Amino acid sequence: MLLTLFLVGGAVFPVYSQKIIIPVYSKSNALILQVEDSKDLNMAYFGEKLSDENEYKNISRVYRPAEDYSSMLASAYTASGTRNLAEPAISVTHADGNNGLHLLYESHKQEKIDENVSLTTIVLKDPVYPFWVTLYYKAYVNEDVIEQWSSIRHKEKKSVTLGKFASANLLMRGSAYWLRQYHGDWAREMQPEESRLTHGIKVLDSKLGTRANLFQPPLFMVSLDKPATEDEGKVLFASLSWTGNFRVDLEVDHQDNLRIIAGVSNFASAYSLKPGEEFSTPAFLYTLSNSGKGLASRNLHDWARNYKLVDGKGTRLTLLNNWEATYFDFNESKLSALLKDTKKLGVDLFLLDDGWFANKYPRNDDHAGLGDWQENKQKLPNGISYLVKEADANGVKFGIWIEPEMVNPKSELYEKHPDWVIRQPGRDEHYFRNQLVLDLSNPKVQDFVFGIVDGLLSKNPELAYIKWDCNAVIYNAHSSYLQNQSHLYIEYVRGLYKVLQRIRAKYASIPMMLCSGGGGRVDYGALQYFTEYWPSDNTDPLERIFMQWEYSYFFPAIASANHVTDWGKQPVKFRTDVAMMGKLGFDIVISKLDPKDLTFCQQAVKTYDSVKDIIWQGDQYRLTNPLTDDVASVFYLDKAKSAGVIFNYLVNNRYGAGSAVPIRLKGLDPSKKYRLEEINLYPGTRSALNPGTIYTSDFLMKIGFNPAVKSGRNSVVVKITEVR
Ligand code: GLA
Repeated sequence: MLLTLFLVGGAVFPVYSQKIIIPVYSKSNALILQVEDSKDLNMAYFGEKLSDENEYKNISRVYRPAEDYSSMLASAYTASGTRNLAEPAISVTHADGNNGLHLLYESHKQEKIDENVSLTTIVLKDPVYPFWVTLYYKAYVNEDVIEQWSSIRHKEKKSVTLGKFASANLLMRGSAYWLRQYHGDWAREMQPEESRLTHGIKVLDSKLGTRANLFQPPLFMVSLDKPATEDEGKVLFASLSWTGNFRVDLEVDHQDNLRIIAGVSNFASAYSLKPGEEFSTPAFLYTLSNSGKGLASRNLHDWARNYKLVDGKGTRLTLLNNWEATYFDFNESKLSALLKDTKKLGVDLFLLDDGWFANKYPRNDDHAGLGDWQENKQKLPNGISYLVKEADANGVKFGIWIEPEMVNPKSELYEKHPDWVIRQPGRDEHYFRNQLVLDLSNPKVQDFVFGIVDGLLSKNPELAYIKWDCNAVIYNAHSSYLQNQSHLYIEYVRGLYKVLQRIRAKYASIPMMLCSGGGGRVDYGALQYFTEYWPSDNTDPLERIFMQWEYSYFFPAIASANHVTDWGKQPVKFRTDVAMMGKLGFDIVISKLDPKDLTFCQQAVKTYDSVKDIIWQGDQYRLTNPLTDDVASVFYLDKAKSAGVIFNYLVNNRYGAGSAVPIRLKGLDPSKKYRLEEINLYPGTRSALNPGTIYTSDFLMKIGFNPAVKSGRNSVVVKITEVR
C-alpha cells in the first residue's frame, strides 16, 4: 500500500512501508532498485515494464524469501569483508588495515539530462568508515540502453587499497541462462560460443593490457529462460567501455539468480586511493530485449550512432589502402601512381599504411623504426606534404597510418628514451611483433603521442584520415614513471584516453580508424574517439561474412571498415559485396586488375555511393544465418522503410546448396508495396530477378523472396524500393 511520498533531489518517489523504490526506466524496461528496511540497496527487478508501477514493490516478495544470507545475493553493489560471502563488486583494505566493507543507502537523485536521457545517482556509505560508493545509471530511453558505472571515494586518514572495483553488479532472474561469448586470435576475431551457464562463476577477462581483446573481447549476450533467436526471447547484450584489461563475472548462484559483475580487471591492479580522490570506473553498457537478438542489436546501433561514435550520424570516406598492395616496399613515384589509381577507382581517399617513416633505422619491415615518426627520406624525399598535395591535384583525399603507442627496440626513440618504455629492469625483454609498448601513464609520453598526430595535422591541415594501430600486448608490465606499479594497467588506459581527448578537442571531426593488428581493440570506450574500426586483418570474404555477422550484434555497419583484398578464393564481386556491408575500402593492386574486374569495381563504388546511407544509417536485420543455413542474408532498411539493400551469399559449397526456399524479409511497412531489383551485377551477367514484379510487404514478410543464390551465383545484392 502506498503510504506517503518521499522527496529526494527535487523529485517525488513513492515509499512503501520503509522501502524506497528507485526505478530506472527505458522505453520497454524497468530496472528496479529497492532500499530495504536495513538500508541495504538491492536490485529487485530488471525486465519488461509492468503496467502498474505500484506492483514493483511486490516483486522481491514472490521470489524465495530473502531471509539470512540470500538477501545479499540481490545486492546492487556487493561489498566484501562483512556479511557477504558471494563474489563482490568491490573489496577494500581501509587505511587502518581493516578489510570490512558494508554499503548502505544514503541518498539518491534522478535527473533528466534531456528528452531521451536520464541519470539516476545513488550514494552508498559504510556505516563505520567514511567511505562512499556512488552508483550511476544513465538510461537512454528510446534505445533501451543503460550505461552503469560507479565512483569510489573516502575521507580516511590515509590511502585505502581497492582490491576490486566493478562498474556494475546486475541481478538477472530466469529459469536458465545461455551465454554467447567470443574468443579469437589474430585473423580469427569474434569466434562465437554459446552455452548454458551452470552454477558457479564463469569469468570473461583479458590481462593483455593493450590490444586487450585479442583473445577475448568484453562483448557478450545472455539469453534468459531459453536461447533467444533473432526475433524471440529475452536477451541481454552487454559490454564494458574500456580499452584495457576487463573482467566480467557471471555467477549462477545457489538460488539460481544470475549475478553479473563487470568492470576493469583487478589483475595485478590493487589501487591505492588517496583521501578525497575519486576513483571513477568506466561504463558497463547493456540493453535488454524482450524480442530477440535483432532488436537488441538495432537498439545498440541506434545508441552508438546517436551517442558514441564520432560522427555517428554523418558520412564516411571510401578508400584505397596500400598495405597489401605494397607492404613496406614503396617510394614516392609508386605512391603517386596509387593516387592516380585511387581516382581511377572512384573512391574518396588514399590511405598510406605502415613503412613511411624512420631514417636511422628505416621502417622497411616490422623489425625497425617504430617510434621515429619522421618521413623516410629515401622513400619520401619530399615528405608527406608533397603527397597530400599530389592527392589534392588528383582530386582525392589523403590519409595516413600511425602506431603511436609503440616502439621497436631498433629505433632512435628507444635509444633516447629507454625510460619511456614498459619493461622490467634487469629482465630480458619480450617482444610482440618485434616491438614494445610506450608507457602512456607518463605525461611526457602522452605529450609525445599527442605530438605525433598534432605534428602531422598541423603541418598538413588537409590530411583527411588517420588509421591508429596498436600491435603489441604488454609484457613485463613495469613503469619507470609510476611509483605504484599496480596502477600501470589502469593509468595506461587513462593516459590513452587523455591523449585521445586532446586530439578530439583540437581535431573534432577528422575520421580515425581504430585498428589493433586487426580487431584487437574494438570497444565503446575507444570508439567514442573514432569513426570506425578494423574488424580483422582477415579479409577473406567467406570468413568476413561470419565475423561481420557477430560484430554486427554489437556495432553498427557504419563503424565497420571492410576492405576488398586478395585474401580468399572468391571472385572480386563476392569480395566487394561483402565489403559493402559496412564502410567500403580496397586494398588491391588496381593497375593489375583484369579490365572487367576494374570496370566492376568502378561501377561498384558508384552503386555503393547510391546505397551507402541505407547501410550506414538504416536498421539492420539478419535474415538467414551463415552458421546454420546455406545462404547468409543480411538486410539494411532505411528508417522510412522505403528503400533497402539485401546481401545474400552462398556459404556452403556442398552439392546443390543454395537458396532452396524463399528468404523472409523483416521490418517492412505493412502498408507499403515494394519492387526488388538485383544490383552490383558483374559486367556481362544477367539478373535472375524480375524487377517488374510488385510485392506487398505482407508477401515479402510471410513468404519471402528468392535471390536464386547457388554455385556460380554465390553473391547476390538486391535493392528493395517502395512502389508508390
Ligand atoms: C596491422 C594492421 C594492418 C596493417 C599493419 C601494418 O597488422 O592490422 O592493417 O596496418 O599493421 O604494419
